[in-house]
Amino acid sequence: MCFCLALYFVLLFLSCASAHPYGGLRSPRHNLDLFLHIRAAIPSPDVNLVGVVIVRIIVCLVVAVSRHLEYCPPKQTVYLPVLIADTPTHQKCTSLADKDYTKLINLRRYYLGNVPYGEAIFGCHTTGQIALTFDDGPYEYTTELLDILKAGKAKATFFITGSNLAKGPIDDESLPWANIIRRMYREGHQIAAHSWTHPDLQSLSEIDRRNEMYRLELALSNILGFVPAYMRPPYSSCDGSCLATMKALGYHVIYFDLDTDDYNHVLPDQIYDSVAIATQFIEAANPRTESILSIAHDIHPLTVSNLTVAMLKVIKDNGFETATVGECLGDGSSHWYRKV
Ligand SMILES: *[C@@H]1O[C@H](CO)[C@@H](O)[C@H](O)[C@H]1NC(C)=O
Repeated sequence: MCFCLALYFVLLFLSCASAHPYGGLRSPRHNLDLFLHIRAAIPSPDVNLVGVVIVRIIVCLVVAVSRHLEYCPPKQTVYLPVLIADTPTHQKCTSLADKDYTKLINLRRYYLGNVPYGEAIFGCHTTGQIALTFDDGPYEYTTELLDILKAGKAKATFFITGSNLAKGPIDDESLPWANIIRRMYREGHQIAAHSWTHPDLQSLSEIDRRNEMYRLELALSNILGFVPAYMRPPYSSCDGSCLATMKALGYHVIYFDLDTDDYNHVLPDQIYDSVAIATQFIEAANPRTESILSIAHDIHPLTVSNLTVAMLKVIKDNGFETATVGECLGDGSSHWYRKV
């Protein structure tokens, strides 16, 4: 009896402690279920139900309050992002107004269209299309890339990183990035998410992972007035709990089937290897029956000036056309973003 009660309180504490950090206390219904479940296992069920539920509520309150203190001292709610500029440090609270984040936290994230949410997607399926994607920008070479794409009448998808490589936050209007992102959108490219600071999302806690996405969303909503419904995980690392987060936040999780491996071939005597990888892949594909989803990074100068130029030629010569990821997945463009 005593042992069972002790076990009950341990379970109770654990269930409270593992409760969703954004969800607060669990429902009374859950309390009751748990209680009845455990009481059924006790030989003489003379435990006071009301008393136990009260104790549970107290334990949960203690947990909730300690959480609150852990993440943010006075005046901020527990789920507010605490990222500061470049460093994913969580010691300090952000000075940004609460309401900026509240609008993202409260955003209704409907699942629209037929492309799955929160599941890894490795390829697309509109035949004859190649979705060129570029990660980690905008950066120094992105304007040149936009010029090249424009000259080649090509469309691409940009998986945006908010503040990496010491470039400063993308929504700082004194820096060039916000204008570059608006130009991407204006010229028909798709804007997608690649986190705020490019961490391994899989290794982060739920709250830190959400902060990485919310902070980027805040920046993109400042710049464009909407947030993307497509994302790519940094280091291709996101399963289990991370995919669940992305599903909850309403994201399509996009990988690739053509890895140009450009980041391993950044030097002039190396880039040709990436050109060869891409060329062979594209030449081996049949535009009447296949589509391609490629990855490269617009933070490397030769990816822009050499690899992309070469790929555009091979794409054309082999009867493919470029497309955004959304188009290549057959997803209507009204589903690519969420208005904030
Ligand atoms: C790319 O670099 C290779 C040398 O690695 C060179 O032969 C080629 O002409 C370059 N292509 C472009 C488009 O600059």
